[in-house]
Amino acid sequence: MLEAIAAEVGTPTFIYDAAAIRGQYARLVNSLQSAPHRIHYSMKANSSHAILSLLRELGAGVDIVSGGELFRALRAGFTGRDIVFSGVGKTRTELKDALEAGILLVNVESEGELRLLNEVAGELGAVAPIALRVNPEVTVDTPHPYTRTGERGLKFGIPYAEAIQVGRLALSLPNILLLGVDMHIGSQVSSLEPYRAGTERLLELHAKLRLEGANDIAYLDIGGGLAVTYNDELATDVEAFAAAILRIVENVPLTLILEPGRFLVGNAGLLLTRVVYRKSSGGRQYIITDAGMNDLLRPSHYNAYHHIESVRPNGQRGVFDVVGPVCESGDFFALGRSMDAAEPDDLLVIRSAGAYGFCMSSTYNSRPRAAEVVVDGDRWAIATEREEYSDLTAREITNLTWMDG
Ligand code: LLP
Repeated sequence: MLEAIAAEVGTPTFIYDAAAIRGQYARLVNSLQSAPHRIHYSMKANSSHAILSLLRELGAGVDIVSGGELFRALRAGFTGRDIVFSGVGKTRTELKDALEAGILLVNVESEGELRLLNEVAGELGAVAPIALRVNPEVTVDTPHPYTRTGERGLKFGIPYAEAIQVGRLALSLPNILLLGVDMHIGSQVSSLEPYRAGTERLLELHAKLRLEGANDIAYLDIGGGLAVTYNDELATDVEAFAAAILRIVENVPLTLILEPGRFLVGNAGLLLTRVVYRKSSGGRQYIITDAGMNDLLRPSHYNAYHHIESVRPNGQRGVFDVVGPVCESGDFFALGRSMDAAEPDDLLVIRSAGAYGFCMSSTYNSRPRAAEVVVDGDRWAIATEREEYSDLTAREITNLTWMDG
């Protein structure tokens, strides 16, 4: 099927397996079934309409981080009640749009945001439902520092020591309704300990807030971050994860919210690319592909590992740098990798590209964005058409209208 897709749609193309997404979703839901819970797919991982529709049909809600994601979520048929809104820099307009959509929770990350939200809600004659996103200040061991969020001093969340004051303020503001406590400790976190420690800290805060008169708290949002396997690292054992969390929340009358992104879609996707050239330089052997860092940024940005193999291995192996055509030395998918000795015109798959792949792609070097395809059993469909050159310049103005001043 990969060859048929390449022939029809061209390369580079992201390809997602619907069955794999359904399987991950079912695993997570089954492991949590003994407790009231909601799964809010963190759509920053992959916000394409086909993926959103699939997850909506399965019963998921979404976790959004921008007005653009709100727009996409509503367009995919989610209602306001299916949406929680995270992010450190929500603007007035984004807050207003979210309130107008009737979202379930705004995960408030600072005192400034709380005051602004109160003002915006007041102007609309509304009451804003919120959770306090707290930085639980736990130590997290993610593969790259850029994907940690729940450590002391990072920009995310309300510092733990200040959370009680911000909670008091929330209780005193007329257009705010405090409904939850929330954390997100990082991404690709396979160990259970930081989740356990963070959840306990959230429950401590919950208890303190209750003493302050917070009687409406109904949600405990423990964020996303569940790890998948890219190479040989451990994926989160979700059953053990769920058991550990459920033990802690056993006697707490709160609905658990989870915001998984990568766990649901990461290993359900691959990037299909064609080899353009082989060359050697200074003793290194290069495989040059038609995909570049603009299509899949993760290796370059996080030094992330993605498994690469030939669609039709020719039996030869070697050690290669797999690189794209972008004019940057950082444009690589693998360095010094022992792999199939793919030749020009061969198709390669770059695995585990379902999360933070297409959605982080750009048009750098004026390279139109790739296509996206969904496979379901023995059928496949184009989910996003490949961009054309004219898309690159569609918003550019060729005759400038000059303004004075
Ligand atoms: N909730 C919040 C508030 C988040 O910030 C994130 C991810 C998630 C949920 C979902 O995390 P996940 O389950 O996907 O780990 N671009 C990076 C990952 C950045 C994650 C940022 N926040 C990468 O490619 O590894």
